[in-house]
Amino acid sequence: MIDLSQVTVAFGGRVVLSDVTLSLQPGDFFFLTGPSGAGKTTLLRLCAGSMTPAQGEVRLFGRPLSEMTSDARASARRRMGIVYQDTQFLDHLSLEENVLLPFTVRGPVDAELRAQAADLMTWVGLGGHMAAPPQTLSGGERQRAALARALLTAPEAVLADEPTGNLDWEMSTPVLMATHDLALIRAAKPLVNARVLRLKDGRLTQAGAAL
Ligand SMILES: Nc1ncnc2c1ncn2[C@@H]1O[C@H](COP(=O)(O)OP(=O)(O)OP(=O)(O)O)[C@@H](O)[C@H]1O
Ligand SMILES: [Mg+2]
Repeated sequence: MIDLSQVTVAFGGRVVLSDVTLSLQPGDFFFLTGPSGAGKTTLLRLCAGSMTPAQGEVRLFGRPLSEMTSDARASARRRMGIVYQDTQFLDHLSLEENVLLPFTVRGPVDAELRAQAADLMTWVGLGGHMAAPPQTLSGGERQRAALARALLTAPEAVLADEPTGNLDWEMSTPVLMATHDLALIRAAKPLVNARVLRLKDGRLTQAGAAL
């Protein structure tokens, strides 16, 4: 669904990703680890079609990114659930309104969708915070709310950058999740049959079983 083939990215002459190949298919769950500055967010941005590599090929839902117009890239991105590292919410809206925002911008929202939003918010541990203004939440809580918002759109792939908290993941949607949180990986890895990828010195490798 999302394929990177021998991708290289450099910023100001410094190579951040070097010859990276990754294929995200239905049912895959990858944790993406690596030190700060290793290129995790950059890799997620590539998968989201938000940037173009200097070398190599990115394919989104089978189409080469290089042949996609900006409209086509935007519509591919709408098929993904993307949680950014620093999620922005609208502070004058409640958390519930923020989570429903991808729908309310297009028209009225029905009771079924509201119920789904409530379920997802409960799943991420924020069931009691629906009416709260987003600025009253911790960083981790905001990330979990962002995850609920992304999942509400029934994405075909999930790209998550540093979401926190132990969630009981059970989904067939492919997930690529960047995290520093070893406890999260240890807890979730057996449940979701996740593979752990490690970025270091521009290289992407699969981590061994010992974590
Ligand atoms: N648009 C940009 N212009 C210049 N340099 C950039 C840009 N984006 C990222 N970088 C640099 O690329 C490197 C990788 O950044 P990236 O944000 O992908 O790291 P990360 O692994 O997500 O780190 P963290 O764990 O701190 O979130 C960093 O050195 C960063 O400064
Ligand atoms: Mg990052």
